[in-house]
Amino acid sequence: MFNFSLVKIGLEYIKYRWNHPSKKASDSEFKKDFFENCLKIDLDKDAKFHLKTLFNRLRKDNRIITITDFGAGSKKLGNKRKVSTILKTSSSKGKYGKLLYQLNKHYQFKNVLEFGTSLGVGTTYLHLGNPQANITSVEACESTITIAIESFASLNNVKSVHSTFDAFLSSRASDSKSPSYDFVFIDGHHDGEALLSYLEKLKPFTNEKTIFVLDDIRWSDSMFGAWNAIVQSGEFEVIDLFRVGILKLTPVKL
Ligand SMILES: C[S@@+](CC[C@H](N)C(=O)[O-])C[C@H]1O[C@@H](n2cnc3c(N)ncnc32)[C@H](O)[C@@H]1O
Repeated sequence: MFNFSLVKIGLEYIKYRWNHPSKKASDSEFKKDFFENCLKIDLDKDAKFHLKTLFNRLRKDNRIITITDFGAGSKKLGNKRKVSTILKTSSSKGKYGKLLYQLNKHYQFKNVLEFGTSLGVGTTYLHLGNPQANITSVEACESTITIAIESFASLNNVKSVHSTFDAFLSSRASDSKSPSYDFVFIDGHHDGEALLSYLEKLKPFTNEKTIFVLDDIRWSDSMFGAWNAIVQSGEFEVIDLFRVGILKLTPVKL
């Protein structure tokens, strides 16, 4: 099923480095600002301390939980997983976690939506970047969300929703008070067709300034195909960071 082989990834990486997106940033204010300002932000002292405490706790967490899969599954792991293994394999850490922090700190989003909570590591980076932001994080696997909620106990303005992405979107459609999200992080159900369908269904709940981050755009042929379709559509300004892609609607030229 997954034939996005190592050789292909290697070639893709060389191509990516050669055409690095920062080289083409001057064609757009959004991209220029992203590379020159947003990406230069560092984690502050409090954030570093909070993350260190969180990682120390999760690294030592040997509880085994049963995963119910609502997405494209794991390439390697079975459905019984140690919390510490989930931290290693399925959480935004390092420069990807920092990217979430940088984005929320720089753009000061009001309403943030995360698809795929897992242990809540990405959510925590997002929160630390801008604790005032209202963050809604959606996760369908019950045993996983139970662990995430333990991490959210000390975070204000974080709402955890136990739901599939589709059920969440349907419930929003019938909720007239649903906010317009100005940041959406899609980090679950890594299937190209599903990704395109979520982007389409999110349109009524986002606005012309919304920034989307799509994780694992090169995880499979299907994900990379969807990414290429998004790039070619011209609907969005895109920043390709190899593992993740960033989108913002292309401004209408008057
Ligand atoms: C890669 S993990 C998320 C990592 C997290 N965003 C972070 O940054 O640390 C993906 C999560 O998405 C959840 N998921 C996958 N498909 C889903 C679906 N259709 N509806 C709800 N949750 C889903 C999985 O259960 C898994 O916990």
